[in-house]
Amino acid sequence: MILSIESSCDDSSIAITETTTKKILYHKKISQEAEHSCYGGVVPELASRLHAVALPKILEETKPWFDKLKAVAVTNQPGLGVTLLEGIAMAKTVAVLQNIPLIPVHHLKGHIYSLFIEKETRFPLLVLLISGGHTQVIRVKNFEHMEILATSMDDSVGESFDKCAKMMGLGYPGGPLIEALALKGDENRFNLPVPLRNSPLIAFSLSGLKNAVRLTVEKLGGAEKMTEQDKANLSASFQKAVKLHLLQKSKKIFAKEPIRDFAIVGGASANQYLRGAYENLCREFGKTMHVAPLQYCSDNAAMIGRYAIDAYERKQFIDPNKID
Ligand code: KG4
Ligand code: ZN
Repeated sequence: MILSIESSCDDSSIAITETTTKKILYHKKISQEAEHSCYGGVVPELASRLHAVALPKILEETKPWFDKLKAVAVTNQPGLGVTLLEGIAMAKTVAVLQNIPLIPVHHLKGHIYSLFIEKETRFPLLVLLISGGHTQVIRVKNFEHMEILATSMDDSVGESFDKCAKMMGLGYPGGPLIEALALKGDENRFNLPVPLRNSPLIAFSLSGLKNAVRLTVEKLGGAEKMTEQDKANLSASFQKAVKLHLLQKSKKIFAKEPIRDFAIVGGASANQYLRGAYENLCREFGKTMHVAPLQYCSDNAAMIGRYAIDAYERKQFIDPNKID
């Protein structure tokens, strides 16, 4: 069994995964969303302190499996330095005390492996990763070979949802709040710019759109003066512009890419409006679309554990003294 730990941002999560059956025997996540909500985003120092409280509590529940552990896996990059450290320190301690190997896990590869938690998805895959930190299209040949085909030049999808929600005084995380509000809005009410529409660049950029939302909020007299309907209309118009941007660039990649299986992963892949748009695009290009179960779209240790099974087979271990 493998113990996996995730603390790259604002979720403290631990899982126990069985290596032969690849089943999750235990999985728990304590989210800090409520604590960060009043700040409109994650406060790293606060997040780190909250991990220091939550992780040991969760770890205690995994005691029944401790004697059967054959490795411990931990997200070691990318993420917030001070929060990653909490998980890494715990993983190092477990590895040394139990005398078992330590597996470092790249967080984004973990998101890709969220597709494998409940079913045996197959490589090669074309993956759109949309999270709080990243917007990327990745060609995943197999465990070893992953190539980034397009990436964000500035704000990620999740981050732009969070920032726009903050501008409208909605709270954090902005993704689910904007998605829900958009259902009640008119997506054609505000004519927001679709980023890089006339550019041949195959890349993503959302800072200009975010600025257009800011200007619209100002024009409406600020978040306090906006009506619920204004907020719903602006949420819907923003979400539509994000969709058009993602689709326009993805179409160019789809046209060239022979891989038939396409997947969306990361926190923002929970968005049903974006999922629907990509289902249509996949139909148009004859691709099969895959998504992870909703509970594994945002950060969690189950995906880290699933990646770790494949890493264990390849003996991708790290000396506890060499990880920081
Ligand atoms: O993958 P994740 O949990 O953390 C990172 O690796 O960054 O993604 C979190 C991000 C947040 O920015 C959140 O607003 C966004 O995912 N998100 C959404 C939705 N649910 C979460 N964005 C758009 N629509 C959603 N339904
Ligand atoms: Zn993530």
